[in-house]
Amino acid sequence: MPVLPICQYPDPVLRVRCAPVEDFGPELKRLVEDMIQTMHDAPGVGLAAPQVGVELRVAVVDATAGVDPEAVRVLVNPEILDATGVDTDTEGCLSIPDFTEQVTRPASVRVVARDLEGESYEIDADELEARAIQHELDHLDGILFVDRLRGLRRQRARSFLRRLRSPEPAVAGGN
Ligand code: NI
Repeated sequence: MPVLPICQYPDPVLRVRCAPVEDFGPELKRLVEDMIQTMHDAPGVGLAAPQVGVELRVAVVDATAGVDPEAVRVLVNPEILDATGVDTDTEGCLSIPDFTEQVTRPASVRVVARDLEGESYEIDADELEARAIQHELDHLDGILFVDRLRGLRRQRARSFLRRLRSPEPAVAGGN
């Protein structure tokens, strides 16, 4: 189970609207195993397939960041059925290192997804897990958490992202 390289902003794969999975074969299993390994290695609480360069609607979430193996959620072709409440908390993204900001989202979600066998199942999530699921589902539509910011927080994100798009040239010197 290799750790995969994580695509970084402004990689255009992060802006792709991903295609649904139709083939629930061994390749999907391998992808998901590698994604779980990559998420835990980072470490992170979620990872979406486009972040490892795969344009499919697949995400993994583990609100315990590797502490509880039972907590890993595999979300194939996920959809939010219901979202309730409002919550604001700090978010970051493995594809945008060194930037975090307060993001407001629904506090709880009900999600329908398929598992590795293609069986449909539903989960109710709240707190960090609900936030991570929403963040990863956004990735499947090419949406980044910085797109969810408004006002001053958005301005802060914009200037940070601008620096990532055109980093300052290295200062000449030394040898
Ligand atoms: Ni992310």
